[in-house]
Amino acid sequence: MSFAYKEGRLHVEEVELSAIAQAHGTPCYVYSRSVIETNFRAYRDAFGDRQHRICYAVKANGNLAVLDILAQLGSAFDIVSVGELARVRAAGGNLRTVTFAGVGKTRFEMEQALAARIACFNVESIEELDLLADVAESLGTQAPIAIRVNPDVDPKTHPYIATGLNENKFGVPMEQAREVYRRAASRKGLNVVGVACHIGSQLTTIEPIVDAASRAMAWGDGCYAQGIDVEHIDIGGGLGIAYGSDNPPTIEKYVGAICDALDPHYEIIIEPGRSIVGAAGVLVSRVVYMKQTPTKLFAICDAAMTELIRPALYQAHHDVLPLCSGVKRQKMDLVGPVCETADFLARDRDLGVTSGDLISLMDCGAYGFVMSSSYNARPRAAEILVDGSEVHIARQRETAEQLFADEFRLPASAMRKLGA
Ligand code: LLP
Repeated sequence: MSFAYKEGRLHVEEVELSAIAQAHGTPCYVYSRSVIETNFRAYRDAFGDRQHRICYAVKANGNLAVLDILAQLGSAFDIVSVGELARVRAAGGNLRTVTFAGVGKTRFEMEQALAARIACFNVESIEELDLLADVAESLGTQAPIAIRVNPDVDPKTHPYIATGLNENKFGVPMEQAREVYRRAASRKGLNVVGVACHIGSQLTTIEPIVDAASRAMAWGDGCYAQGIDVEHIDIGGGLGIAYGSDNPPTIEKYVGAICDALDPHYEIIIEPGRSIVGAAGVLVSRVVYMKQTPTKLFAICDAAMTELIRPALYQAHHDVLPLCSGVKRQKMDLVGPVCETADFLARDRDLGVTSGDLISLMDCGAYGFVMSSSYNARPRAAEILVDGSEVHIARQRETAEQLFADEFRLPASAMRKLGA
């Protein structure tokens, strides 16, 4: 257990969380190296000698220290922008292993990714296919591609993170996919190497994943019959984690089911994000005030929707643990200081905390810091990585001045006197 109480005090690995809060301030994200490593190794071990590539989804947590750990473990990477490509490069990741997903890749991004010789573009529309072929041909090169098909499978997750239904913007609808493959095969700037799909995130049942994988493979088989040599099936990411009462399959079970569903002659590519880093991170915050209204008790924290938007955006549940056992438990809402009623971190929780206490929001390693904003001119939180008894600053707390360092005041010539 990397996050556990020892003598009534919450620790991450061998370090007491309150010591980190004292030294680095709150709110702050704290990550455990060992959880990241354990999860990555669980994927790798589950595949055994089956041909596979694990492309960590950088969007889940792109901190350079986190990418460093994964690069050292030999992970490949899944990106959705050249910003993420730059992060992988900065962390010494192998760019030749990168897959590039996303419905809106620009010409500039295609040029950058081609220059980096990434492993595969996951193409999501006919117009994108045509532009990528033009760009590759104009550079005298070939883009390795997979068509991301939309298998129209219900992933049974929150509608905002479901991607594999016909009503979603992602992928090429099955009925257009044949035409897109034919078109791809006719362009010398393109080299079809795979089929891709990704049906959604925080998936807690295995059936839709296996269903989508089988549909993607049927596509691969169909292409093969037409003389297009599809080498890999990329089934995306999506495996969920246990946020509270969720009960997702284990990594071993998930990988086993995919391996069973896909013919061994295909290389299997997966793009996990949350299941590698989600449980590896917590958001530590201090309760600033308690406030009783006629109907509710609020714990007003120094973390807000600006640090963790998941509760406001997806009604997501994160367990809340006090850093040390304290006062009598009461039902309360945990909210932040931001001027929005949607600024809540947890609702109706039985907690024994009061003003001045430190709390930890659990399972915030994925889609936590990366989705933070500086709304209300709130500098972004620090990120700390713990490795055994060692504490590394993975990102220092932003300053208010940094928030407007790239802004310009009007030049003197544009200043008008009042009433002029
Ligand atoms: N591959 C593709 C093409 C994706 O779109 C995603 C996530 C992944 C892989 C990684 O999925 P994961 O293994 O992490 O589930 N912000 C939301 C989650 C958005 C997921 C977007 N795509 C949240 O906080 O729940």
